[in-house]
Parts: sequence; C-alpha cells; structure tokens
Amino acid sequence: MGTKGKVIKCKAAIAWEAGKPLCIEEVEVAPPKAHEVRIQIIAVSICRSDTYVINPAFKEGLLPVILGHEGAGIVESVGPGVTNFKPGDKVIPLYVPRCRKCKFCQSPLTNFCTKFSEHKNPLIEQELMDDKTSRFTCKGKSIYHFLGVSAFSQYTVVKDINLAKIDDDANLKRVCLIGCGFSTGYGAAINDAKVTPGSTCAVFGLGGVGLSAIIGCKTAGASRIIAIDINNDKFAKAKALGATDCLNPKELNKPVQDVIVEMTNGGVDFAIDCAGGSEVMKATVDCTTVGWGSCTFVGVNFNDKGLTISPVELILGRTLRGSSFGGWDVDTVPKLVSDYKNGKFNLEELVSHTLPFEKINEALDLLKQGKSIRTILIY
Ligand code: APR
Ligand code: ZN
Repeated sequence: MGTKGKVIKCKAAIAWEAGKPLCIEEVEVAPPKAHEVRIQIIAVSICRSDTYVINPAFKEGLLPVILGHEGAGIVESVGPGVTNFKPGDKVIPLYVPRCRKCKFCQSPLTNFCTKFSEHKNPLIEQELMDDKTSRFTCKGKSIYHFLGVSAFSQYTVVKDINLAKIDDDANLKRVCLIGCGFSTGYGAAINDAKVTPGSTCAVFGLGGVGLSAIIGCKTAGASRIIAIDINNDKFAKAKALGATDCLNPKELNKPVQDVIVEMTNGGVDFAIDCAGGSEVMKATVDCTTVGWGSCTFVGVNFNDKGLTISPVELILGRTLRGSSFGGWDVDTVPKLVSDYKNGKFNLEELVSHTLPFEKINEALDLLKQGKSIRTILIY
C-alpha cells in the first residue's frame, strides 16, 4: 500500500468551537503507532451523543475535536504489534474497548472495560491515544480524538482493542449503524433488559436508539410495545417496526405513566428510557408493574439532575439498570453484522436520509430538529 507509514491528508469535519457548525477541513492523519490501526471510513452516521460535546451548555468537551462514533470502514495500515487486523479488512470501530485483561473484560457480566473510562464523564472519553498524543493535525494544531473513534474523518486511527473485524461482504453503508445507535437500543432490550416472549414493554424516545429498542422488544417476542415520544412524526416508523400503541405525553391530560398503568392493568413488564432526563426517567420507573417491573436506562440528558426515587418503588419489586452500547463488544459485534446479513433485523427503516459527507451540518440540523432518524454520510 502506497500510504503505509506516511501521513495521509484527507477531509474531516472539525469542531473548533462549541455552538458553531463543524468545518470541513484538510486534516493530516499520522500513521498508526503500536497497537493502533488506521482506517478509511466509508460511511458514518450521527448519534445524539455527538451533538452534546459541541453544545455550548456542555462545559467539559475538549476542543478542537473530530467527533463521530457510528462509522464503518476498511483497514488501511496497522501499527507494530497488531495481529488481528490487516489492510483491506472491513471493520467497525467501537467506543467500547476490550483490553481482555481487566476484571471487567474477564467477567461475563459486563461489556465495560477499564480502558473505556478515565474521566467522570463518559462523553469525553478516549480523546487521546495511549501515549497521550493525537494522530490528527489541522492547520498546525493538534486535534482531539473522540470516544476513541473520530469517524468524522475520512481516515482515522483507533486502538486495536476498539475494533471489530466484520464480514468481507458487509454493506458498510448500513452496518455503520451497528457502531452505536442500532446496537445500543437493540441490545438494551435483548441483552440487558432481557425482554421475554409475551411481555408488555414501554419504550421512551423514538430516535435511532429507541426505534432499535423496539426492534429488540419485537425480536424478543413482546406482545405489546408502547412507544412514547413528544414528536408525533416518529410514530409511523415505530408502528412499522412493531409498536402496538403510540403515546405523546404532551397530548395527554395526565402523566404518561398513569396512562400506561391503566392501559396495561398495573404497568408494563419492561420499560426502556431512550430519551433521558429526570422526567422521562421517572415515567420509566412509574410505568412498570410492581412485583417485577424492569427499568433500563439508555438515554443521557447531560445537564439534568437525574432521578430521585423512593425506596418503596424498589422494595415493591422493581429493578433498575443502565445499559451502555447494548451490552455488545468487539467480539459480539461481528455476529450482529452477520445477523443483519441473514435478515434477522432490518436496518433500512432507521435510515431516513443519505447525504455526501460534506453536508454533515445539514445532517446535524436534521437530527436536532427531529426530522431524521439516521442520516448516512458517504465520503
Ligand atoms: N418524552 C418522550 N420522548 C422524548 C422526550 C420526552 N420527554 N424528550 C425527547 N424525546 C424524544 C425526541 O423527540 C426524539 O425522538 O427522544 C428522541 C431522541 O432521539 P434522538 O434525538 O434521535 O437520539 P438518539 O440518537 O436516538 O439517542 C437517544 O440515547 O445513546 C443515548 O445519548 C443518546 O440520550 C441519547 C439517547
Ligand atoms: Zn452513540
């Protein structure tokens, strides 16, 4: 390969300042160092979490940064010590690493790895490589990585522990969604909530994550799936994916949780919060049945205080848990890609728009305005 060992110049979307549009720039991408892999990103989508870091209200974001953590691509070159990947391999970079050595990687109970988190805030993790330097330079300035992925660059460098090798015939323009949104929602339902056949479910927030949770509930055999959003435009798609009822809390004359409790003779078996914020968190708990109600939290509303809960709500038999990347990791993502190929689930429904990478700001606006589910950006 002609580019191995050399700096690659390519296009990237750089967030120089919070509250400003991303700038398409020429960026220099250094070759991968030990246990790093340089990837050509073919397709990338935008997740709600990408927008937090550039929100002026979010004070912890490190700028300038190359965002993006929902991409798929092809290995261009590998650094010393990389044994599992070679140029030409199709891959999905994951913000969830797997070092295989820490107590979490050695436990079957979690997909968490100590390499994920150094900060208190998981939204600004892995902003530099292990040697505490960046592989990106633009206009003479070092640019931060984001979540160890930075897929808003045509070429990016990731650690080999953040990379899943996938089938050679995988459709990168679809399986990029497995890099975050789809896996997060689908896995929250099937791996973490462990939705059971014949059960009743409530899913709050019908973006890419929530709709994927509906796919998960449906795949798990739920008999009733109540979909909740404050935007009625989301309901058609939710129904197409398996929702049996749709509720808009803004159009009800009592709290949505009370309506759900009435509809289900005492509350649902499983509730999944894919919106975030204390109000939705409270509704998620209150809409589940006493005895065994299961509440799974996925959504993050970064400047929100979260939940205040009475012990009685738990003593009566409810369980609460959080879910990150749907419980998947670099070892299980390849299976998801094969499952997609074999028709186990449909990613088409999640793709509302496809645009050239240069139109990334248009794609961000579509997401913020609630007009898109996922926009696939093609380099
Ligand atoms: N009640 C119900 N739905 C709500 C509410 C609310 N109070 N507030 C917002 N929503 C809906 C929005 O209308 C939108 O349809 O939640 C949905 C969120 O979807 P997206 O913005 O597309 O976000 P998505 O990418 O799906 O991510 C959802 O998961 O991983 C986390 O950080 C991510 O918190 C985000 C969540
Ligand atoms: Zn995400």
